[in-house]
Amino acid sequence: MYEQVSHSLLNRILNDMKPDFHKRDLRHFYTRLGANFYAIHSLFEKLYGNVPDFEEYMLRLVEVLAKNYLDRPYDLQEIDITREEDHNWFLHQQWVGMALYLDGFAGNLQGLKEKIPYFQELGINLVHIMPILKSPAGKSDGGYAVSDFREINKQAGTLDDIRELAAAFRKHGILLTLDVVLNHTSSQHKWAEKTRQGDLQYQDYFFIFEDRNLPDMFEQAMPEVFPDTDPGNFTWDESIQGWVMTVFHDYQWDLNYSNPKVFLEMLDVILFWGNQGADIVRLDAVAFLWKELGTSCQNRPEAHLLLQLFKDCCQVTAPGLLFIAEAIVAPLEVIKYFGEDAVVAKECEIAYNATFMALLWEATATHNCKLLAHAIKSLPGKLDRATWLNYVRCHDDIGFGFDDEDIKNAGYDPGEHRRFLMKYLTGEFEGSYAGGQPFAFNEKNGDARVSGTLASLAGLEYAMAQQDVQEVDFAVRRILLLHSLIFSFGGIPLLYYGDEVGTFNDFSYLEDENRADDSRWMHRPRLNWETLARRDEPGTPEYTIFQELRKMIAIRKEIDAFADFNNRELVDMDNDHLFAFLRSSHPRYHQHPVEPIFVLANFDRHPQAADLKALSAYGFGDSRSLLDLFTGRPPHCFRNELILSPYQFCWLKNGVA
Ligand code: GLC
Ligand code: GLC
Repeated sequence: MYEQVSHSLLNRILNDMKPDFHKRDLRHFYTRLGANFYAIHSLFEKLYGNVPDFEEYMLRLVEVLAKNYLDRPYDLQEIDITREEDHNWFLHQQWVGMALYLDGFAGNLQGLKEKIPYFQELGINLVHIMPILKSPAGKSDGGYAVSDFREINKQAGTLDDIRELAAAFRKHGILLTLDVVLNHTSSQHKWAEKTRQGDLQYQDYFFIFEDRNLPDMFEQAMPEVFPDTDPGNFTWDESIQGWVMTVFHDYQWDLNYSNPKVFLEMLDVILFWGNQGADIVRLDAVAFLWKELGTSCQNRPEAHLLLQLFKDCCQVTAPGLLFIAEAIVAPLEVIKYFGEDAVVAKECEIAYNATFMALLWEATATHNCKLLAHAIKSLPGKLDRATWLNYVRCHDDIGFGFDDEDIKNAGYDPGEHRRFLMKYLTGEFEGSYAGGQPFAFNEKNGDARVSGTLASLAGLEYAMAQQDVQEVDFAVRRILLLHSLIFSFGGIPLLYYGDEVGTFNDFSYLEDENRADDSRWMHRPRLNWETLARRDEPGTPEYTIFQELRKMIAIRKEIDAFADFNNRELVDMDNDHLFAFLRSSHPRYHQHPVEPIFVLANFDRHPQAADLKALSAYGFGDSRSLLDLFTGRPPHCFRNELILSPYQFCWLKNGVA
């Protein structure tokens, strides 16, 4: 019955559509629209069914889809079809990414194109350019305060440069990822400007309240993202004479998605960037999309409906375009951004694995893997056709958002353990080598997060300053160990620019008044290509880190079991310093079995023994037939034990003659 209603509506919409749509070859469009219309209509109705003129908005939605389909370049439409046919293409182990700030890495888009050989040298074939959409010159949260969703900053280049870069990347098999900041605009965006000028239609794009009643009620349940620099979630605006909801910085105005116009505008923006050649869009701060009084305003069911709707719409116009969810939330919440109650991903195909990232740092600080293993085990399985973005560092801070129950199960007190991690990573704990700095300290509850580059957090900066050869070696090993895990765990590894040569903290941001209060800038470096040239000078840490990572990437790409087909099993080694898992065939995915790989990682600064008996249950018990694919040699065994040196990892293959 319902389906019939939506079909007759669809027919009406198609009749009402502007005549020039009918003159074009819309075959694929109609097929995909027919296949997805029922879902799109029900989601749209769930969200906006009680808005007057609902059907008018529905018509406009289909027009946005059709217009963007017509604008979609022919070569991208071809790619759509290939990807629809090979719909698991992004789960393959060949993909290895890097996130970078354009100005700090290559200056501008032209410069980035010239760096293609560098990506190829390292083995990078997915590049995430941090936001370059037009943003104000002063404070802009590193570009996450967008003042025009269809323009890019002049210093970055032009739209032609983007399209040219996308084409050059495509030619070399590199995927382009761009940011779409869905949750908020800059206070200088024209919608905000119009609101300030009294245009009522734009007022409804945001949350604006004339007095403190509603803001005060909201505040009771809403946490603060930047409590030290931007306390509270509302900002008084003089010209409006009202309180504007600003969850992040006071110059970032939250968009009001209960207004269908906002949804349609942002859908148009996503499809626009897909049409400029983005293979993937990173959807920023998706957990925050829906605001509801009396709640934390994060992870609301409607935020999930919105993402499903964005996805289903994309399936009609640009099915080859993937979504990355940036949802840095509790472990059990993150996984929902793939979609719930669905076999395949219904929201975002890819999600930041913030849980794994934070756990890796926890294991590094404690030198043991109790919490890491517990927390990973208590996560539910993820959907098919969905994959993690595994990373060690990114442009943001590290937060300790583990589940309290997991911390307790690992034998720690949650509050105390978080305080210990904070002290350890900021070098305040006796014996710690880490050079992080606190970020977003909250006076009210004592919460804090950590900034710092990988190399500084892993102790390389400290060891170099001490000229301690042994500690330099350990720090380099820690850097490699952490990467070995994001390469083997299952998912797309995302390196952070500069980490491939062990870049240290950079405090020059303190001299810039627009950045000085945000310690995340210490790990957003301007790369020095003369230092990077040391990657070819044996004996330097730059050389060791770069060349070993390069080797790891090349080997990862050859290991079929590392593709992410939900084919990982954690193995308890009865030694808390060790983290171990098996990557093997998955009955549903692998018609031909893949060669199983046993991953072992030692988080301790002392050698550790792995009992071969524990490995024998998985067929890896015979030391004479094991080979470590990373070193290309048999692992070091003594009697019934496999010996791992400090911070060593192995990618073991079995059955060597
Ligand atoms: C995302 C970005 C972060 C930014 C925030 C607000 O979480 O990663 O850098 O501050 O959104 O846009
Ligand atoms: C919080 C937010 C995340 C944001 C980060 C910036 O973790 O959940 O979206 O990127 O803060 O520090």
